[in-house]
Amino acid sequence: MTTILVTGGAGYIGSHTVDRLIHHGFDVVVVDNLMTGHRQAINSKARFYQGDIRDQDFLNQVFDRESIAGVIHFASVSIVPESMKNPLKYFDDNVKGTITLLEVMHKHHVKRIVFSSSAATYGEPKRIPIKETDPQIPTNPYGETKLMMEKIMQWSDQAYGIHFIALRYFNVGGAKLDGSIGEDHSPETHLIPIILQVALGKRSKLQIFGDDYPTKDGTNVRDYVHVLDLADAHILAMKRLLNGGHSDFFNLGSSTGFSNLQMLKAARDVTGKPIPAEMAPRRPGDPSTLIADSTKARKVLGWSPKYDDVHKIIGSAWRWARKHPNGYDK
Ligand code: UFG
Repeated sequence: MTTILVTGGAGYIGSHTVDRLIHHGFDVVVVDNLMTGHRQAINSKARFYQGDIRDQDFLNQVFDRESIAGVIHFASVSIVPESMKNPLKYFDDNVKGTITLLEVMHKHHVKRIVFSSSAATYGEPKRIPIKETDPQIPTNPYGETKLMMEKIMQWSDQAYGIHFIALRYFNVGGAKLDGSIGEDHSPETHLIPIILQVALGKRSKLQIFGDDYPTKDGTNVRDYVHVLDLADAHILAMKRLLNGGHSDFFNLGSSTGFSNLQMLKAARDVTGKPIPAEMAPRRPGDPSTLIADSTKARKVLGWSPKYDDVHKIIGSAWRWARKHPNGYDK
C-alpha cells in the first residue's frame, strides 16, 4: 500500500481528501496541530500525529516511523481578512512551515508533494477566466505566502529534485454527501457557511461586503468548486507524481462565476429560508472577480468535477450544517 502523509488533514479540505484517499485504497498518515482542524474530522483509518510542521524534530519522528511515498500539504492559515491584520502570522505558519516540511522531506528522500496554492496568488486579475500562466500579483498577505510557497517549491525541485504539483484553488464549498464531515471554522469568515448560519437562525443576517464593484450586480464574483471534486484533484495529482510526472501548476475551479447576490439567491432556493441580508462596506483585500480557466487540470490531470453546480455545493453544505449546527465540538 502506498503511504501518503497529509499535513493539515484535520482541516476542512484536508479531512475530505484523507477520506477520499482512504476510499481510493491509500494508506494515510495525518499530521495536524489542531489549531484550526478537528480530531473528529479525520477518518479513523488514518494514523494521526498531533504536532506542528514548523517543529522539525516532531516531523523527523513522523518521517522516521512511517514509509512516506508522497506528501499532500494543506497545513496553513487561510483567512484573507485575518492575513491583512496579522501578516507575520501568515508568513510564519505558511512559509516557515513549508520550508521545514521540505527540509525534512529532503532529509528523508521523499520527492513528491502536492500542495494547496490559491487563486489569491493572482490578485486582481487582468483578464477572466484566469489561466495558470497569467501574472501573479497578490493583493493580500495570504496570497503572497502561497506565491512564496510556489517559488520555494520551484527552487527545491531544481536543487533537490522534489517534484511538486501546486493546486490553485478558487472558492471551495460543500461537504461530504452524507453530512458527516464539513466546514467548521472559528470564527467563520467564508460566504457559504455564514449564509447557512443565517438560514439556521444562528446569525441574524448576512452582510454583503461591497455592492460597487465592476461586476454585473456590483457584488464580488467568485468561482465555487465542491470540496469532493477538489479532493479528487489532489489524488489525481499525487498519482501523476507517483507515476513520474514532473512539477506543475493547476487552477481548480468550475470556470463559472457567481456573484455574492447570486449565491444568496441560490442559498434561499436550496434551504427554503428567507436569509435576511444587508449591504456593507467592502472588505479589504477582496479582488472584484475571480474565475478559473481549469482547462489544464481537465486535460492534463483528467480532472472532471462531478458536483459542478452551486446548488449541489450549497445543498451538501446545508446537510452538514443541519446535522452539525454547532460544528464538530458540540
Ligand atoms: N462575503 C460577504 N459576506 C460575508 C463573507 C464573505 O459578502 O460575511 C463575500 C466576500 O467579500 C467575497 C465572497 O463573499 O466577496 C467570498 O468570500 P470568502 O471569504 O468566502 O472567500 P474569499 O473569496 O475571500 O477567499 C477564498 C478562500 C481563500 C482563497 C480565495 C480564492 O478563503 O483561501 O477564496 O478565491 F484564496
